Order: sequence, then structure tokens, then C-alpha cells
Amino acid sequence: MEINAKNAGTLTLGDKTFNRLGYGAMQLPGKGVWGPSRDSKNAVAVLRRAVELGVNFIDTADAYGPFTANLLIRDAFAPYKDKYKNVFISTKVGFTRQGPDKWIPVGRPEYLRQEVEMNLRTLGVDKIDLLFLHRIDPKVSVADQVGELAKMQQEGKISHIGLSQVSVAQIKEASKYAKIEAVQNLYNVTNRKDEDVLSYCEAHQIIFVPWFPLATGALAKPGSVLDGLAKKHQASPSQIALAWLLKRSPVILPIPGTSNLDHLEQNVAATNVNLTDEDVAAINALKS
Ligand SMILES: NC(=O)c1ccc[n+]([C@@H]2O[C@H](COP(=O)([O-])OP(=O)(O)OC[C@H]3O[C@@H](n4cnc5c(N)ncnc54)[C@H](OP(=O)(O)O)[C@@H]3O)[C@@H](O)[C@H]2O)c1
Repeated sequence: MEINAKNAGTLTLGDKTFNRLGYGAMQLPGKGVWGPSRDSKNAVAVLRRAVELGVNFIDTADAYGPFTANLLIRDAFAPYKDKYKNVFISTKVGFTRQGPDKWIPVGRPEYLRQEVEMNLRTLGVDKIDLLFLHRIDPKVSVADQVGELAKMQQEGKISHIGLSQVSVAQIKEASKYAKIEAVQNLYNVTNRKDEDVLSYCEAHQIIFVPWFPLATGALAKPGSVLDGLAKKHQASPSQIALAWLLKRSPVILPIPGTSNLDHLEQNVAATNVNLTDEDVAAINALKS
């Protein structure tokens, strides 16, 4: 069977439709998601190969580098014409960076606005397809943070608004100030703490983007809890982890991250793995 993300089906936001298996660009900057890529040529090749394999939902953030991932995306796809015209980019604002693996949320409206402008510039786009508030800053009111994003949406800088790492209560509160169309929370086979958020998204037709779909690689390694099922399906454990997410809910859009061309292809091929209801029940029964 052809290896193509379209085998996962599609999701739509506004007038844009994308395949339900995406790609996360966080692995492309240097160690600790800090500084330049260790191999920019390879990073651009990975991004372009993703699109060849039907992946047209690319997740990034101004904070990845900062700006490294965005600039690589611009190098790979700008001016977003011809074979790259259907690339849908989700990006994020609201984190500051102090060094490798250091992340501090800042949700002051003037900073969020600056980062929207920086995302537009570094991605080389006129409008952001989907903008996530990377974290709600507890020092700033939700009204001020989400309200500023809504203002920028009205100004035509953003098409759709999402939230990242939020509770159901926070989605409800944010929804007073903007239409929340996507949520990006930590969720995978071994971490299912946010089942309530997923259920809320299902009930309200909100796209749920699970980050760390491979538990940062732990679910891809031999010896993972998914080894048995992987053997049964002649697949890799990473493919089982992704196939489970795809089957778990039609609103789920996984965005596995990789800087490796072979891993990328393997991840997209997960869309060809058909788990049975029995397989799903076996995974559900694993301790999360
Ligand atoms: N909203 C948030 O707060 C937030 C937080 C974290 C991440 N994210 C987003 O979620 C995306 C996914 O998360 P992630 O990239 O950190 O973690 P992940 O997708 O769970 O796992 C990525 C890790 O798995 C390895 N890997 C990927 N495919 C593999 C395969 N087929 N076989 C073996 N190893 C494989 C990668 O290494 P190789 O490069 O060697 O393949 C990398 O170390 C990110 O890229 C980012 O866009 C969002």
C-alpha cells in the first residue's frame, strides 16, 4: 500500500483541509530545542519529504530555536506555491527561552503580538493558519491573552486559534474571548491524563493534537510496551503508537517529530496499520 498521510483521512479548518497525520518540527533545532540545526540541509530535506509523503499539517513554534524551526520551514516551502501551496502551518506564541530546555511562559499582550509578527516574518507568510497559545501565563488574565489573539485574528493576521496544555476549564474560559478550534496537549499510549480534554474536544468538534505522540521516542524503541503488537502487525512500535492515536478518536491529529528521513517514512506508514478493536483494547488496558 502507498505510504501517504492521506491514508489517515482528513480534517478541515475553514477553507483548508489537511491529512490527519502531521509533522512536528521541534526536533529540527539544536540540542534542547536551542540554536541552529545540527544539519540544516537534512532538516529541509525532511520537511520536503514529509510533504511528498502527503503530510501537509506542519507544527512549529517561534520558541523552537528560537526561530530555527520556522526559518527551516520557510527555506523548505516559501513562497508556498505549486507543490507546497497546501502546506498548513500551526505555530505558537507565549514562551520565552533562556537556554537549552529552558522555557518560561510570558503572555503579556504586547509580547504575544510581537511573536505573531515574528512568526509571520520567520515563516514568510501573510497570515498564520493556526496559532496556539503555547501556555497560558498564570500572571496574565486569560481575557488579556486570548483577547489579544482574537484582536489579531480580526486584523487578518491569524486564521484559527488554539490552546496548548490546557484543562477543560481553561478551554471554557478562553472560549469566552475567541473561538477555540484546536487543542494541543501531552497525550500518548503511556500518558492519558487528559482523557477529559479529549472528550471535550470530541464533543465540541475541536481538533486534538497530541504532543509527544511517541513519548519522545520511548515508544519507538525495541522493548517498548508495544513490542508484541508490533510483531503481530509486522510493524514498528512507533507505528503502533501512532496507529492507536489515529484510531482512538477522529479529532486526533498526531504530529510525530523526527530529524531522520527513515523515521519520517516509517511514521507516515503507520497510517497503513489497521489495529483491531481487540488490539485497541489491549493497548487501553496498559497502565498509562
Ligand atoms: N505544545 C507543546 O507544548 C509541545 C511540547 C512538545 C512537543 N510539541 C510538538 O509535538 C511534536 C512531537 O513531539 P516530539 O517531537 O518532541 O516527540 P515525539 O514525536 O514523541 O518523539 C520524537 C522522538 O522520537 C524519535 N523518533 C521519531 N520517529 C521515530 C521512529 N520511527 N523510530 C525511532 N525513533 C523515532 C525522534 O528521534 P529521531 O529524530 O532520531 O527520529 C525523537 O527523539 C514536536 O515536534 C512539537 O511540534 C508540542
